[in-house]
Amino acid sequence: MKIAVLAGDGIGPEIVAEATKVLVALDEHFELEPALVGGAAYEAHGHPLPDATLNLARAADAVLFGAVGDWKFDKLERALRPEQAILGLRKNLGLFANFRPAICYEQLTHASSLKPELVAGLDILIVRELTGDIYFGQPRGRRAAPDGPFAGQPEAFDTMRYSRPEIERIAHVAFQAARKRSRKLTSVDKANVLETFQFWKDVVTEVHAQYPDVELEHMYVDNAAMQLVRAPKKFDVVVTGNMFGDILSDEASMLTGSIGMLPSASLNERGFGLYEPSHGSAPDIAGKGIANPLATILSAAMMLRYSLGKAEQADRIDAAVQRVLARGLRTADIWSEGTSRVGTVQMGDAVVAELR
Ligand code: IPM
Ligand code: MG
Repeated sequence: MKIAVLAGDGIGPEIVAEATKVLVALDEHFELEPALVGGAAYEAHGHPLPDATLNLARAADAVLFGAVGDWKFDKLERALRPEQAILGLRKNLGLFANFRPAICYEQLTHASSLKPELVAGLDILIVRELTGDIYFGQPRGRRAAPDGPFAGQPEAFDTMRYSRPEIERIAHVAFQAARKRSRKLTSVDKANVLETFQFWKDVVTEVHAQYPDVELEHMYVDNAAMQLVRAPKKFDVVVTGNMFGDILSDEASMLTGSIGMLPSASLNERGFGLYEPSHGSAPDIAGKGIANPLATILSAAMMLRYSLGKAEQADRIDAAVQRVLARGLRTADIWSEGTSRVGTVQMGDAVVAELR
């Protein structure tokens, strides 16, 4: 099985190296093929998502992705910025269904910024639509001189848009996920203000007719943001659009102690997937050897489970991560009094040692 390994920018190469080590330790003889993506690809080839990288991803059985982005590219025209690489991969590969689980490991209850009793045992799943919404809606731009400097422009605009099939397919994915869990789904919208999200709410309600065994609740996004920090355990599966999902998944991640712990899977209709940590490239700590590789290692576990049919190996990785945490090893982002602080490589080594 061939895995495209796209490490990207910032801490990307460091965390992906640790996840790769873990995959190699499984002894499954995966073919791991690296390629440049994001700012790194722009610097080498003049484009954040070169054809060779996209073709490698297309030909692979799954994609392991690090992170893209660096402030030094902020001045580039939008089409050449590192973020376009991940957006282009999602769009070109049809990865419309983004799973972002937020699980609070028992050992990390105290690393959360919320009171331990609010987050202990937390296990929620955010299902984010990933290829529509204001991220991809047309038209978009700035009036006057679309490619000119920002200063002096009279206005800028993006278009929020969802089609019926786009909402239907993500709703089906979310209802099916809810069926495998506690049969409770919260659909997050802004139907009180936005046409796009009144439509979203109506279509999700229609799809619900096919899942009478799942309880459906609708919630406005502002209220959802508030409820997530007030009583996060009230949620089980949450489904929402691309923009709200981006924001709520970052919020949910902090409930678990650190965004450095959150894996994600982005799947297309055939179950092909790209796996990446939910966090970004963190250029501020890049190269310091202190980034938490666990989100990427757990993303590799999701890859084994969802795309490669190796659920047992995925379980082994999950268990190894738990044992490492139980031993008290912590990267800086999840460190607390009485635990041992380790760097990126030591954390990866510890997971490999537990696997063996
Ligand atoms: C994420 C990131 C991306 C997004 C960026 C890097 C384009 O924030 O995966 O959540 O906004 O989707
Ligand atoms: Mg985000």
